[in-house]
Amino acid sequence: MIKAQRQESLEQPTRVVGSYIMEGIDIEKGRNACIMFSPQTEEAGALATMLKIFKDHDVNLVHIESRSSDRCPGYEFFVEIDTRSGSIGKAIEEIRSKCNYFNMISRDYKDNKAAVPWFPQRIRDLDRFANQILSYGAELDSDHPGFTDPEYRSRRKYFADIAYNYKHGEPLPHVEYTKAEIETWGTIFRNLTKLYETHACREYNHVFPLLVDNCGYREDNIPQLEDVSNFLKDCTGFTLRPVAGLLSSRDFLAGLAFRVFHSTQYIRHPSKPMYTPEPDVCHELLGHAPLFADPAFAQFSQEIGLASLGAPDDYIEKLAAIFWFTVEFGLCRQNGELKAYGAGLLSSYGELQYSLSGTPKLKDFDPEAMGVQKYPITQFQEVYYVADTFESAKEKTIKFANTIPRPFGVRYNAYTQSIEVLDSKHQIENLMSNINCEFQILQNAVQKLKI
Ligand SMILES: [Fe+2]
Repeated sequence: MIKAQRQESLEQPTRVVGSYIMEGIDIEKGRNACIMFSPQTEEAGALATMLKIFKDHDVNLVHIESRSSDRCPGYEFFVEIDTRSGSIGKAIEEIRSKCNYFNMISRDYKDNKAAVPWFPQRIRDLDRFANQILSYGAELDSDHPGFTDPEYRSRRKYFADIAYNYKHGEPLPHVEYTKAEIETWGTIFRNLTKLYETHACREYNHVFPLLVDNCGYREDNIPQLEDVSNFLKDCTGFTLRPVAGLLSSRDFLAGLAFRVFHSTQYIRHPSKPMYTPEPDVCHELLGHAPLFADPAFAQFSQEIGLASLGAPDDYIEKLAAIFWFTVEFGLCRQNGELKAYGAGLLSSYGELQYSLSGTPKLKDFDPEAMGVQKYPITQFQEVYYVADTFESAKEKTIKFANTIPRPFGVRYNAYTQSIEVLDSKHQIENLMSNINCEFQILQNAVQKLKI
């Protein structure tokens, strides 16, 4: 479970939040599987022939799409089936025997050895996460500071509903924060900004003034997600998307593959401004958002996301731990000094100071070790991993990702905002041709600059 329950105070430094993701709870299984296939025949009516197979086996289709195949000549079909209907196994067997290409991804992958764990392939597929949440953000535990406050609870429901109803491509809803909410933000903002110059990494301190200038980062103003998201999009293509409740690690990490960060929009209870039992808008906007504007950090974060797509469960757990020790609680060394880049540190007055105090154990950046390192969620970390640069962290993470057993490569196509599943020679040739074009652009620029 990565939902963190932490407490902090100005007097006694404790801690802040992690990510809005959770492990250890069995998510309600989706009932659909996605099948991608290219029929052996290119004849008109090929799709109708294939669809008849589903009909003959009483398999219900939820969604059908066709596109030109980039794997082989002809068309490729994308069909979503209701796995509770008909003779699925027989239908799949027959379809597969008539195809040049066949692949299946499913949330029910544990029951179906032929399937790869489901992952979003187009950015709009992230809309599916809205109804795959592990708990609704309006539900509070009995020890939550806002549990007995009906006004706060109704406010939380308001924020959860915004996220639940949000669809890709819509503007992020503008929120009028109350006076009490702005005061809570102001207390946190005032205290944390005293530390950033000395404690935050260079990249964070480079971006932060831009957020002040462009997105209304001020003590008396809670920035709007829409403004921050638009700013990040201009910098690195990262965007924010509201989240209604806890996501599984698999879904949360998949968002990063599209450079999408699932963000809360509500704020902690005003009775305890330095305490929150879950991530809130202070954690997201002060901790996470600034570094997503840094190209190397954005790339690093996306690599973790890409590595997660279709990965087995044990590797998802490792990637969630790597995310924890980097994006949440990462340290780096700059000009011989230790600095923080993890959001859990940059949004925690207490742990930000503690992490750089010389007390905790420090280890060199190592994805293999981070992947199996246990971490406490209710108190300060005992161990922090120190990166040299985001670039080197990215290289090491890619190397780790290459060890994940997966029968295909993945690549994010920023033009179509979709994931390319690379599992054919033709795709590899196309990719090499694209890289060759990019290389020529590079060569041309180098010649002109006479480097
Ligand atoms: Fe977080």
